[in-house]
Amino acid sequence: MFKVPESALERMTSSTSHSSSPDSIDTSNCFDPFADVRDRMEALSLHSKLMNAYHKETKLPDGSISIDNDLSIPFFVAWTTYFSYALFTFVGHIREICSKILNRGRYIYTSNYPSDDKSKYAPLLQSFKTFYTKRIYHRIQDCFNRPICTNPGAYIHVLERISHDGNKTMQVLGTFEESNMSHDLQTLYKSGKHFSLYENKITRKCLNLGSYNYLGFGDDWNVTCQTPVLNSLEGLPTSMASSRLECGTSTLHSKLEQIIAEFLNKEAAVVINMGFNTNVTTIPALVGRGDLIISDELNHTSIINGARTSGAAIRCFRHNDVDHLEEILKESIVLGQPRTRRPWKKVMVIVEGIYSMEGEYCDLRNIVKISKKYGAYIYLDEAHSIGAMGATGRGCCEYTGVDTKDVDILMGTFTKSFGGMGGYIAADKAVIDMLRLKCASSSYHTSISPAVCQQVITSFEVRDID
Ligand SMILES: Cc1ncc(COP(=O)(O)O)c(C=O)c1O
Repeated sequence: MFKVPESALERMTSSTSHSSSPDSIDTSNCFDPFADVRDRMEALSLHSKLMNAYHKETKLPDGSISIDNDLSIPFFVAWTTYFSYALFTFVGHIREICSKILNRGRYIYTSNYPSDDKSKYAPLLQSFKTFYTKRIYHRIQDCFNRPICTNPGAYIHVLERISHDGNKTMQVLGTFEESNMSHDLQTLYKSGKHFSLYENKITRKCLNLGSYNYLGFGDDWNVTCQTPVLNSLEGLPTSMASSRLECGTSTLHSKLEQIIAEFLNKEAAVVINMGFNTNVTTIPALVGRGDLIISDELNHTSIINGARTSGAAIRCFRHNDVDHLEEILKESIVLGQPRTRRPWKKVMVIVEGIYSMEGEYCDLRNIVKISKKYGAYIYLDEAHSIGAMGATGRGCCEYTGVDTKDVDILMGTFTKSFGGMGGYIAADKAVIDMLRLKCASSSYHTSISPAVCQQVITSFEVRDID
C-alpha cells in the first residue's frame, strides 16, 4: 500500500504541458535540457502505478489518496509455477536416490584415478545449489545463458542452441548450412517470428536488459571510441604490470584523474582498476575501529563488503528515510561507542546516487542537510548516476541541486555510462593523497589499463561534442 499526495496527482495530470523538476528539487538556477524527459518518465511511472491499482484507490481525510498496490501474480500463474517447481524437486529427489542405489545416472562421478577413495573426502559439491543445478536448472537451461554474438548494445543477438542429451549440454546451431536440422524443421524455424541471422549464424534478436549502456557506447563504440582506444595501444601497453604507487601510472592515468576532478569540481581524484574494489578498498582506508558508518539499507554489496572490512561499527537506516537517519545520528552521538561510551572518532553516512535494483534516486539534499547538522561525513556512490543523471551528466549532486563541495567523498565507476571499467574517488587533495598511499587498490593492485583510461577520456570528449 502506498500513498500518493494530491500534489503528485496534479503534477501527473499536467506534467506533459510543463517542464519543471519534481517538487523536492530546485533546479531553477541551472539549465536542464532533459527536464521534460524526466518529467515525462516520472509521470509515466506514477501513471503505471495508478493504472495497476486503479480500482482500489480511496481518498483519505487528509486529502491524500491511498492505493492498494494490487500487483499480485494471477493465481493460475502462481499455482502452475509452484507446482512445476514442486514436481521437478520431487522427481529430482527420486532420480538422486535411484542413481545412488543403482550407481548409474547422468551425474554419477566416476574417478579416473584408481587411488581416489571417495569415502575419504567430504563432499565438495553437495548442497541444494548442486541439486538445483543438476535436477532443475539443467532441464530449463535453454532459457538462460545463451551465448551472445554481438556487442552489448540496446539489442543483442543470442545464438540458438539445441540439446541431444535432455538439456544436460547445449550445442549452438551454427549456420543454416552446417546445422543438423532437418529441411522441414529449417523451413518451420525460418517462418517463426523470432528467427534472425547474424553473420549467417542462426540467432534470436533480443532486447538487452543485462548490460550497462547508459550513454550508448555499447552501440556505437566503433564510430565513437574505437580509433583513439586502438591508437593508445601503440604508445602504451595493455597493462602497466605494476601498482599505481610503483610503476603503474601513465600520462593517461593522470589525464583521466584531472578530467574527473574538473568534471566534479573537486580538488583531486584517483582512478582505481575496478568499481567494486573502489568501495571495498577505499572505505577501510577512510574509516576503521572507533568510527561509525551509517549506511542506507539498500546499499550495494561492494559498500557492504568495504564497510565490514573496515572494522568500523555499522548501523543501517531505512532506505532513503531521512527521519530515520536523523534518529540514528542523534542516538549514536548521544550514546557514543558501545561499552566505553567514548565519542565516535568520526561518523560517515554512505548512500548511492541511484539505487541499482530499485532505480530510485537518493534524497541527497536532505541527507546532506542532516549529515551536516550532526557533523557526519558523506560518501556518495555514483556508479549508476554519473554520466547519466543531471543536466550535464554530473550525477546525483547536479540532479538534486547539491554542490559537490558539500559531499566529502564522491565515488563512481566507468562501467555503466562510459563503456569502460574501473572506478574513481573524487575529494579534497589531502584525502586523495592519503588514499593513494593507504587504499589497497592504489598501493597493491595493478593499475587500470591505459587503454581503458583512453576509453573513458574519449567518452568524456564525445559527451562534450554532443
Ligand atoms: C552502486 C554500485 N557500486 C559499485 C558497483 C561496482 O561497479 P563495477 O561493476 O564497475 O565494478 C556497482 C555495480 O553494479 C554498483 O551498483
